[in-house]
Amino acid sequence: MNSIPWLSQVQAHLLRRKFWRLFGITLAFLFGLHALVALPGNTQQPVTLSLMMNSTEVPAWRDVLIPAFEEAHPNIRINLIEGPNQTNLQEDLYTSAFLLGDSPYDLIMMDVIWTPKFAAAGWLLPLDDRVNAAQLNQDFLEQDVQGGRYEDRLYRIPFRSDVGMLYYRTDLLEQVGAQPPETFTELVEISQQIQQNTDVNWGYVWQGRQYEGLSAMFVEILQGFGGFWVNPETNEVGLDRPEALEAVNFLRSTIQQGISPSGVTTYAEEETRRFFQSGQAAFLRNWPYVWPLANEDSPVAGRIGIRPMVAQPDSTSGACLGGWGFGIAVNSAHPDEAWTAIEYFTSEEAQRRFILETGYVPSRRSLFTDPEITARYAHYPQLLEVVESAVLRPPIPQYAQASDILQRYLNGALTGRFTPERALQSAANETRRLLNVGGDA
Ligand code: GLC
Repeated sequence: MNSIPWLSQVQAHLLRRKFWRLFGITLAFLFGLHALVALPGNTQQPVTLSLMMNSTEVPAWRDVLIPAFEEAHPNIRINLIEGPNQTNLQEDLYTSAFLLGDSPYDLIMMDVIWTPKFAAAGWLLPLDDRVNAAQLNQDFLEQDVQGGRYEDRLYRIPFRSDVGMLYYRTDLLEQVGAQPPETFTELVEISQQIQQNTDVNWGYVWQGRQYEGLSAMFVEILQGFGGFWVNPETNEVGLDRPEALEAVNFLRSTIQQGISPSGVTTYAEEETRRFFQSGQAAFLRNWPYVWPLANEDSPVAGRIGIRPMVAQPDSTSGACLGGWGFGIAVNSAHPDEAWTAIEYFTSEEAQRRFILETGYVPSRRSLFTDPEITARYAHYPQLLEVVESAVLRPPIPQYAQASDILQRYLNGALTGRFTPERALQSAANETRRLLNVGGDA
């Protein structure tokens, strides 16, 4: 308590002044803050587009394509989301997002096999009004463009193509005096010679895990034996025909004869790439992305050849068409900006940069013979021929379920849970029921 009255008056005055000063400062601060927050609204707030992709591709996008795009389009930002590597896991994420209502993604980076399902479900914006169809057909690979259509409308612009290939070790073939194989029998024989006469233990590695990569790989073997999975025009199912049985028996025999490790039934692309790249196998089935990885900084660098998958002497070799492209989510709040991004990313210049960086396959024809690209990847002109005759997996809206059925029974046959005959009969019946073409009960 203060006993001197005038002193307390002075103190009270000082306190009042302090209060007002503090009040003023706080007001000024709040005002300034408000102005700061409000500022971007006065200028132009950048639009953010969300884009998910598999983690293998993320570095090239984060370090190369996205910075270049954002520099060219400062009012658009890309929110890059790292998704799972497996295509079917990514598809599951999109499917649940769309089913829940508002998809958090604007740009949909789509595997070629998703278009019919996503389009039939009404999840994508049709893009026909935005493209010059003649230009698109002229510049891009026909199958890739086809893979973006559903019922005469276009929903996806190809960004990069993909095609299954057979890799081989040139040094090992030389050691046993063999030429690259053309047929399944040659593949087996050369594998065995290499296993017997060199210090490499395994002949051939391929993707046998129960996932989408198994269906893609199987399409190639099936085609090589002259068979088919589903005819998209008639919905006819070919899985219980003799060619399909031969295809499964061939794959099983590679395990039974010790040409392929039994672990292949759990391998996806990356496991098989690492296996081959570490020098443990003579042959590998995989996509072209393996080429730069296995040739740079790798124990087998410079000792690798690549060719289309082998086939029976009387059949044409099968290459499965893969590939990724862009669609726009039907509920995106920024379809015009999304389209600007699609035009940029699928342009010749962006694709060239991406391909030089990663070794993926372009979707524009001219890039397969582009001097900068062929200087780095001499096999691209040959790849163009393979991509142009590649086989699409059935472009049907029920593709995800059909593939799921095939994966389940095929993996069961490869791991010995079912006989090949029983697996294929059940897979064929279930697929017929799915497509409503009268499978047995
Ligand atoms: C590659 C292909 C894609 C395919 C997938 C299977 O990413 O581009 O089309 O579905 O492999 O694993």
